[in-house]
Amino acid sequence: MYVWPCAVVLAQYLWFHRRSLPGKAVLEIGAGVSLPGIVAAKCGAEVILSDSSELPHCLEICRQSREMNNLPQVRVVGLTWGHVCPDLLALPPQDIILASDVFFEPEDFEDILTTVYFLMQKNPKVQLWSTYQVRSADWSLEALLYKWDMKCVHIPLESFGADKEDIAESALPGRHTVEMLVISFAKKDSL
Ligand SMILES: C[S@@+](CC[C@H](N)C(=O)[O-])C[C@H]1O[C@@H](n2cnc3c(N)ncnc32)[C@H](O)[C@@H]1O
Repeated sequence: MYVWPCAVVLAQYLWFHRRSLPGKAVLEIGAGVSLPGIVAAKCGAEVILSDSSELPHCLEICRQSREMNNLPQVRVVGLTWGHVCPDLLALPPQDIILASDVFFEPEDFEDILTTVYFLMQKNPKVQLWSTYQVRSADWSLEALLYKWDMKCVHIPLESFGADKEDIAESALPGRHTVEMLVISFAKKDSL
């Protein structure tokens, strides 16, 4: 129901890469208020926002963000992580998947990666751009990524101007520790 600290960092990453975005197919998962997806759309990407099909009020928030930002071309679909539903099957190949603060509940991680893996079958070059908030030291995504034939690169925040407490005149990310990852299919080059 509000913009999480991770969203501002991911939006800053999109802004840093804005010249590469026009025409790119971009899907945001677990979008909520959808700040990163909205920035991508404003920069010229073809954006689809999604949130859980089981949380209609969250989908409504996505629609409100689309409307408040005057982006009628942006689609909103219900995608629950790990569910293969008609809307997921019907998606065109994506170039970039955005995921801000979706890696917070380890029991959801495989479901998220199932959805991402499905989209990697449609386009093995798709990249998952994700920010997560460091809340606990007792989980690691990297073993799971290995299991799902994915690899990740940690992007230093200072490399895209996000190593500060306030970004773009907002009070976020504040003192929260946020990490930025780019995840891709490990075997894309051998296909
Ligand atoms: C911590 S919020 C982050 C929202 C937004 N991405 C941001 O950073 O401001 C997590 C989001 O994941 C969505 N979500 C939770 N469980 C989900 C599921 N099983 N499938 C899809 N989305 C889910 C929630 O509705 C919420 O919008």
